[in-house]
Amino acid sequence: MKETKEGMWHAKMSEERYLTFALAKGRLANKTMELLEQIGITCEEMKDKSSRKLIFVNEERKLKFFLAKGPDVPTYVEYGAADIGVVGRDTILEENRHVYEVLDLGYGKCRMCVCGPESSGELLKHHEMIRVASKYPNIAKDYFYNKKHQTVDIIKLNGSVELGPIVQLSDVIVDIVETGSTLKENGLDVLEEICPLSARMIVNQVSMQMEPERIKKLISDLKKQL
Ligand code: PRP
Repeated sequence: MKETKEGMWHAKMSEERYLTFALAKGRLANKTMELLEQIGITCEEMKDKSSRKLIFVNEERKLKFFLAKGPDVPTYVEYGAADIGVVGRDTILEENRHVYEVLDLGYGKCRMCVCGPESSGELLKHHEMIRVASKYPNIAKDYFYNKKHQTVDIIKLNGSVELGPIVQLSDVIVDIVETGSTLKENGLDVLEEICPLSARMIVNQVSMQMEPERIKKLISDLKKQL
């Protein structure tokens, strides 16, 4: 087959193109770098914890990594600013972006639950109009409206959501439960479980078509390691 100028240009571009990772900063990013290291992908620059740098490069492997706020990771991946993202399933469900979810990384395991004082359990049984506080209004809406068919008033909060029922802002909360100690220390219980959560790898839909070999190799190497 005759090599066209365009064909050669594309080949050269894909050879030199950086594969960019957006990682949810904090524990998930650290865990992800540990895992990548096990399959031979390192980024020395990233190990300097005193650095305020947000983007790191591995020149040899043509990889870039950047740290972002969790909820922004699916946004970077949908728009192609990152080819690959690692973020919690809670964020993927809440943000509902057009991305491929390709791998359950198994860490960051926790549960999305409806929680509250024991007394609120009754309100859930009888489909009463209740107030639900959450950092995840879309997940809460989907659960109550589409799964339980219960009309509720959803109040968006940005953190320390357990305060909701304590200060009578809401009857229940929809929040992440990991060890359960935050609930316990605040006199609240898990009333219903919505879904299990863990860290997931997501991929930009166009990147998947443009770089199938590199991305599929990465996924299969990670699968073997997990
Ligand atoms: C999360 C979550 C719970 C807590 C659950 O909060 O919203 O509050 O962790 O963990 P546990 O079951 O192990 O106690 P996070 O620390 O992210 O802070 P936030 O309240 O500001 O969201």
